[in-house]
Amino acid sequence: MKQKLQSLLETTLKSISVAKNEKVLSDLETTILGRKGELTKILRSLSALSVEEKKEVGKFANEIKVELKNKFELQRQVFEAEKFSNIAEEEWLDITFPGIKPEEGSRHPISRFIDEVEDVFGKMGFTFADGPEIEDDWHNFTALNIPPDHPARDMQDTFWVKDMEKIVLRTQTSDVQIRYMENSKPPIRIIAPGKTYRKDSDATHSPMFHQYEGLMIDRDTSLANLKAVLLEALRQLIAPDLNLRFRLSYFPFTEPSIEVDCSCVNCGGSGEMPDGKNCRVCKRTGWLEIGGAGMVHPNVLKNVGIDPEEYNGFAFGFGLERQIMIKYKIDDLRLFFENDLRFLRQFA
Ligand code: DAH
Repeated sequence: MKQKLQSLLETTLKSISVAKNEKVLSDLETTILGRKGELTKILRSLSALSVEEKKEVGKFANEIKVELKNKFELQRQVFEAEKFSNIAEEEWLDITFPGIKPEEGSRHPISRFIDEVEDVFGKMGFTFADGPEIEDDWHNFTALNIPPDHPARDMQDTFWVKDMEKIVLRTQTSDVQIRYMENSKPPIRIIAPGKTYRKDSDATHSPMFHQYEGLMIDRDTSLANLKAVLLEALRQLIAPDLNLRFRLSYFPFTEPSIEVDCSCVNCGGSGEMPDGKNCRVCKRTGWLEIGGAGMVHPNVLKNVGIDPEEYNGFAFGFGLERQIMIKYKIDDLRLFFENDLRFLRQFA
């Protein structure tokens, strides 16, 4: 029995000395000193011995137990110490190393310009208004005096919502005129930027684009008021030396209707570059078309319950991207929607 204990002691000490890590060590401890461990078994079997033997072997066995326990503990401390020295080695931190700057985002040029539009017109007393992008026929067309056979309703241009009668993705922000006038009394001054949709896609057209609509209803307003408001606003929004030109045009919801042109920012309105060559941006005309406007048609006022004998007003609707393109000399509308950081960063 003693011999058995002696050899158990020797092999265990050997195993402890070659144990690679803490896990191996504690597994070993269990197989020797655990409840069903080898040493434990021997200790239990002592009861079969005579009192004399029990005394002698029992003493020896307990000494071995204490020795092994100590060895296990010692070896565990060695592993523990190694662990910490490894942490120092692997996880050291160079606090003098320059930091990594997080990427900084910025607002999209369209969002910025919308803010500017609201700001500039806001200072002239126009309050912000908006309407739904999924719109009904009444607000997008009928109330705006657009007859059922008008080409603007053409399947070619308008996105009709499938399986819903007379529901469209709004083709213009003019719907906001109707929605606002239906719910308020003159005098009215609103500015309504927002998304609009048409089946169009090339370098200057996108199926989703932005417009901003303006409306002023009061007594005795005139085209002269319209021009004064637009000249002041567009000089602030696009270029301080901008000029405007009104050309007669046609829209169902205005009478008279006009097309608004601004002087070309590339050649200053002369049509010619300093070297005598034709201006490519305005094709030598000196003018750039920016949108429609006019005096609100009496039928539109009647449709929303405003008496055209008492009130009149002007309205305008401009392509928003178009004005940003003019301002910053951008020649492809698609740049706004491609999310190329090289483009977007220039506005940050
Ligand atoms: N809604 C028109 C369009 O999208 C633009 C327009 C023209 C708006 C004349 C107006 C206006 O308010 O008076 O082509």
